[in-house]
Amino acid sequence: MEQYDVVVIGAGAAGMFCAAEAGQGGCKVLLLDNGKKLGRKILMSGGGRCNFTNLYAEPAAYLSENPHFCKSALARYTQWDFIDLVTRYGIAWHEKTLGQLFCDDSAQQIVSMLEQECQKGQVTVRLRSEISAVEKTERGFNITLNGQDVSTHSLVVASGGLSMPGLGASPFGYRLAEQFGLKILPTRAGLVPFTLHKPLLDHLQTLSGVSVPSVLTAKDGTVFRESILFTHRGLSGPAVLQLSSYWQPGEFVSVNLLPSLDLAGFLNQQRQEHPNQSLKNTLSLHLPKRLVECLQTLEQIPDVTLKQLNPAQQSALVEQLQNWQVQPNGTEGYRTAEVTLGGVDTRALSSKTMVANAVPGLYFIGEVVDVTGWLGGYNFQWAWSSAWACAQDL
Ligand code: FDA
Repeated sequence: MEQYDVVVIGAGAAGMFCAAEAGQGGCKVLLLDNGKKLGRKILMSGGGRCNFTNLYAEPAAYLSENPHFCKSALARYTQWDFIDLVTRYGIAWHEKTLGQLFCDDSAQQIVSMLEQECQKGQVTVRLRSEISAVEKTERGFNITLNGQDVSTHSLVVASGGLSMPGLGASPFGYRLAEQFGLKILPTRAGLVPFTLHKPLLDHLQTLSGVSVPSVLTAKDGTVFRESILFTHRGLSGPAVLQLSSYWQPGEFVSVNLLPSLDLAGFLNQQRQEHPNQSLKNTLSLHLPKRLVECLQTLEQIPDVTLKQLNPAQQSALVEQLQNWQVQPNGTEGYRTAEVTLGGVDTRALSSKTMVANAVPGLYFIGEVVDVTGWLGGYNFQWAWSSAWACAQDL
């Protein structure tokens, strides 16, 4: 039977980095994946340029039932450590916005870098691997792989979440955790567009492709100041994706379409200068014309001139545009979600090493764990940090 010190299941961001680190630390490592390519999500990420970390990565940017869990790993392997690695490989990068770092050229560079790191650690890679059983043994674990048994001292589960099943996502990690008695917290799609109820959707669909800088506020008070994008299914764009991770079915979302404007003051000033100007044209100075027209058909903007706009209408208008209450009917789900919220309950894991407290030698890293970052490179940073923390213990 083949014997390894470490078997890593999942050759995504976390699995590749952990395998490379463990291999370079002297372990004999086998890295497995059910797909036919390494790092498939990395290749798709950041529009093909991989938003590989964020300058402002810190625990507050992560959701988890235990918000303290991610602190140790993020502090021990930081965004600066990963930037250092990328720079050593001569990969050119730039900050796009809000601390988000992207490759200048291609996400393939990150995958190639991780592949080279694995080669340095003499990691054996086996793609198209179907794992049919995992059993605890005295030495560690036996894994039945494409009908053959492999034995390992330590087993690292880096099989990710449920988002984008087309890229190999599977509930494998959750089932394995359950097999060893670990609790799985309910999972749901995160960083995902909202869908809308029919009557509202019919109107807003006409705006497909229109983007508006906004401030969105969730029911729990969480605020994101980024763009929203109208789509043929509902609402997307960075602000919506961010907020989706904080949203529960049935809740309303507050949308401020004019976050940088004192709207009442602006209307009063315009009324004095151009009393006969239509409200529609006035608002079009700050909002896309198509959006103003659409909101008028929804009767959120009265069809009047500025001098006709009475104080009650004006306050209602300010409320409509700066605290527009939208109730999504759902999300687009795992098909388009960037991440999966929930997963392996961190209370069962060591925050220092990612090992399952009750099962020596069994580790969970990356997205399979109940730690989910904001949009903007935070999720890859968690993959790198948790992988590194785990590898130090192997
Ligand atoms: P990941 O999902 O990367 O890897 C898991 C691996 O396990 C996969 O290769 C899968 O095939 C394998 N696997 C699953 N089941 C298996 C089984 N039964 N047997 C063997 N192998 C199995 N984040 C970010 O920070 N910046 C960004 O730019 C983006 N962009 C982005 C775009 C898109 C389209 C998506 C879907 C996601 C992102 N993300 C992102 C999120 C980011 O991709 C994600 O958080 C990390 O890839 C998670 O890394 P993991 O290694 O944990 O899982």
